[in-house]
Amino acid sequence: MPTRRYVIGAAAVACGAALTGCAAGKPGPAVVPPGVKGKVIAQTADIPVGGGKVITKWKIVITQPSAGVFKAFTASCPHKGCAVGRVADGVIHCPCHGSEFAADSGKCLKGPAEAPLAEYALKVEGDGIVMV
Ligand code: FES
Repeated sequence: MPTRRYVIGAAAVACGAALTGCAAGKPGPAVVPPGVKGKVIAQTADIPVGGGKVITKWKIVITQPSAGVFKAFTASCPHKGCAVGRVADGVIHCPCHGSEFAADSGKCLKGPAEAPLAEYALKVEGDGIVMV
């Protein structure tokens, strides 16, 4: 694994019409929460491959969809604003009403949410995940 890898994300794409329960939606804003820019918010070793971790302090979910690739999304579900919870097998789950989102793009996979999770840009510095 490289010691320094930048992962720059764009806003997640809208849900496809063919996907269960998700209507087409516009990507949310990709503005990091105030005060988090430039901060190390997690260690790479804490983010399992195929899984992720919710950083409740910043309302950000960090995922590692494949080895060495890290993504950051808002942890606020676009349905009613609950914090997303478990990340497993490449899927971010919202515990409130069952919406699901792709851990590699934030795309809405299952409603009732109708929009993706907004993606934030991050970079990996050493073992730290830094919001940019
Ligand atoms: S708030 Fe997430 S599914 Fe309703």
